[in-house]
Amino acid sequence: MKINTKILILGSGGREHAFAWSLVNDENVATVYCSPGNGGTDAIAKNVDLDVSNHQSIIEFVKTNNIDLTIVGPEAPLADGIVDSFQKVGLPVFGPDKYASQLESSKLFARDMMADYNVPSPKYYACKNRDEVDLVKVALELPLVLKADGLAAGKGVIVCTTEAEYEAGLTTMFDKNAFGDAGAKVSVEDCLIGEELSVFAVCDGDDYVILNTAQDHKRAYDGDKGPNTGGMGAYSPTPLSTDDIMEKTKSTIIEPTLKAMRDVGHPFVGFLYVGLMVVDGEPFVIEFNVRMGDPETQVVLPLLETSLFELLWNATHGKIKDSTVKISQKTAVTVVLAAEGYPNSYPKGMEISGLEDDGLVFHAGTKKVDDKMVTCGGRVLNVVGFGNDLKSAIDDAYRIVEGVNFEGKFYRKDIGQKGLNRD
Ligand code: AMP
Ligand code: GLY
Repeated sequence: MKINTKILILGSGGREHAFAWSLVNDENVATVYCSPGNGGTDAIAKNVDLDVSNHQSIIEFVKTNNIDLTIVGPEAPLADGIVDSFQKVGLPVFGPDKYASQLESSKLFARDMMADYNVPSPKYYACKNRDEVDLVKVALELPLVLKADGLAAGKGVIVCTTEAEYEAGLTTMFDKNAFGDAGAKVSVEDCLIGEELSVFAVCDGDDYVILNTAQDHKRAYDGDKGPNTGGMGAYSPTPLSTDDIMEKTKSTIIEPTLKAMRDVGHPFVGFLYVGLMVVDGEPFVIEFNVRMGDPETQVVLPLLETSLFELLWNATHGKIKDSTVKISQKTAVTVVLAAEGYPNSYPKGMEISGLEDDGLVFHAGTKKVDDKMVTCGGRVLNVVGFGNDLKSAIDDAYRIVEGVNFEGKFYRKDIGQKGLNRD
């Protein structure tokens, strides 16, 4: 294991603050840079302002500063081939290459792979226009799901339960062209009815380790109402993740997927986020992401008792099997504090108070201005609570929420309730 390492994290969300927080406390890590980072990473690491779309400028920074490992947080640079650019010049980077990133950046690429390798997934058809979808509807019937093929910031999925929703969905997809090029092709899918959970794996191309499970809350308002967001809160682990579900997820989903990527010469190195729907005790893939979730990272990493650096270093160097993984028995809950108006337009620049009090708070849309922490994004902060069970972790998180304030602070009051209702 290398010591005194220098790490560069690309991204600016709560996920990246959680990466930085894990890494700055690691005995093998000397320096952590974040680009662009946020107010939270600024306090514990070094923020640098690099243009992520200019791969050459990132590579220059990595060479000049002797960075030992670069970790790519969000999906856009992965889909844009940043890993391929690093690989061309022989620099270590944690994340899948552009081809393998299609597991997230093309829903149809992912569905085709799943079909070829018998990975449990809903029936689907590739469609390019209304007429094709209308034909598919005869076979699938309602409810069905319309999914823009390309990246759409988590918003490209329309679940159609009624005729009215179906018509509105077609209008959004095709007439309004709401997702631009990402919606030029659509995966029309059988709508699975069950319970959702996500499983996170760290992969080295051949092997993998499971980090944990989590459940996100994607809608803006309580009771899963309102518009879709990047995620308003999460908890880990989820009571849905029985040994049986985990074994099936490994053998019927993760292992065939890693094999598929090896078979086409693009071994999958990176975080594999497996979004599952559990139907009658059987896990089906709703989606893959090729990165950690945000805000799921903010609950998964604090429960990891062994070194994140060791995992990512070993995975990047093809020896994940050498890693030790120990996960806390506790439960973690994160509540997102958002700016009023999110996910639509919202004000910026409100001063934040209460951050100095006890409790783990990961920053997302924040920045330091003249010694004050102010808001600069829609999802502003992620408060994290812990407990010996879900109920006490929820109580802990909401206790911390009370003490952190900014004008227009808005958050869901029911994070974790879905899990409680199952116990
Ligand atoms: P995605 O962005 O693919 O995670 O989709 C967003 C949400 O749409 C998921 O969290 C599910 O709740 C729902 N969804 C997507 N695909 C399906 C499907 N085939 N069946 C049922 N629900 C789905
Ligand atoms: N929280 C969902 C995601 O990161 O895609």
